[in-house]
Amino acid sequence: MFGAGYIGLVTGACLAELGHTVAVRDILPERVELLQAGEVPIYEPGLGDMTLRNEERLRFTLDAEDAVRGAEVAYVCVDTPPTASGDADLSRVWAVVDALKGASHLLALVVKSTVPVGTGRRIRAALDAAGLGHVGYVSNPEFTAEGRAVSDFMNPDRIVIGASDPAAADLIKGLHAGVNGPAVVMDVASAEMTKLAANAALATKITLANELATVCEATGADIERVTEAIGMDHRIGPHFLKAGLGYGGSCFPKDSRALHALASNAGYSFQLLRTVIEVNGLQARRHLQRLKEELGGSFEGRSVALLGMTFKAGTDDMREGPSTIIASRLLAEGAEVRCWDPMAQPGPGQPWDSTTRHAGPLEAMAGADAAVIVTEWPELRDAPWAEAHTAMRTPLLLDGRNLLDGAAMAQLGFTYMSVGRPT
Ligand code: UGA
Repeated sequence: MFGAGYIGLVTGACLAELGHTVAVRDILPERVELLQAGEVPIYEPGLGDMTLRNEERLRFTLDAEDAVRGAEVAYVCVDTPPTASGDADLSRVWAVVDALKGASHLLALVVKSTVPVGTGRRIRAALDAAGLGHVGYVSNPEFTAEGRAVSDFMNPDRIVIGASDPAAADLIKGLHAGVNGPAVVMDVASAEMTKLAANAALATKITLANELATVCEATGADIERVTEAIGMDHRIGPHFLKAGLGYGGSCFPKDSRALHALASNAGYSFQLLRTVIEVNGLQARRHLQRLKEELGGSFEGRSVALLGMTFKAGTDDMREGPSTIIASRLLAEGAEVRCWDPMAQPGPGQPWDSTTRHAGPLEAMAGADAAVIVTEWPELRDAPWAEAHTAMRTPLLLDGRNLLDGAAMAQLGFTYMSVGRPT
């Protein structure tokens, strides 16, 4: 397993749980040392226990040669960050392909990293040129969501296996024996496309809900009732219709841009996806504008509490979440920003260096002119809202996740705003 990040660790631990012997290789010494000491460097429910439970079959190494020695299957789970042009940087994937040259027992190379369509074809050619024509190539994209990755791996909606030959497909299908979900076997390019298409479909669905919410605000309709009812139509489905401050995370924003860039490079302007990306980029800003208007048209000298910093609940990941956009904008417009989050660990840098961090939601809201619910942390449902109302300088609340009961909040005396629901 190349890469001890979120995908590599979850896949490695789950394959060990299924009875396979797994060596996970990473290039970061501190990460490997931590894992060798029995600690898991990311937060993912069930992963720590699973790693410990399977320690006899699961080891961690810095040495690529050591990792592939005797291995029949090599997995690529390294990151493919976007370059300035929006294309994926595949240097880490190619470094793994180079490291395989001495892998004499190897039967298949499986790429789980998200890569542009066509990468498999190029890797296949490189393997052939390196005398590894007998090694099957498989694209096996990842559909697990952060915060539920172990359970998603063991109970997937589908396992997509895009293989260069039927033997490789059978081998990888066999590795998943014990996983509770159907395998869908296809060609390599279609598997690569399926990954980007799935994330584009989900990002589009969320964006549809967010745009409908905006129209609901203007017309007095309630987005929660609307999405509940349209979601009951099996052709639409109830999931990923929750309106909010815009999707974030390490996948939807990156993959939508990657698919858009892929289409552009092929000479096609993917207009629907371009609009999704644009609408999502404006979503948090638009709601911040509503809040500003409620505060009389300026954030200057105001104090605003951010309740939640991670891109969703159940993770410590803050990447591309609306919190960064909101905090930066508030600071730029002269506000003081007071934050609470149970898990976020922002590294040094802006905007977080210019904000203050508080132990609980109530502490963050004390003296504030407004509070914004950014992440749907369950703690916020049961926060001491009556006390918060007294503690705030102005009891103005923007519930960016439609987490609370608007009528109850209004009864407490809050000026309560949410996304696509009548105020
Ligand atoms: C997403 C996909 O759900 C996974 O299937 C995929 O494997 C993963 O990306 C990936 O490509 O690796 P993840 O980014 O962990 O998983 O998070 P999600 O739970 O999908 O949420 C993404 C964003 O959409 C979050 O900001 C979330 O708050 C937002 N969201 C989600 C909404 O605003 N509304 C919804 O109804 C659902």
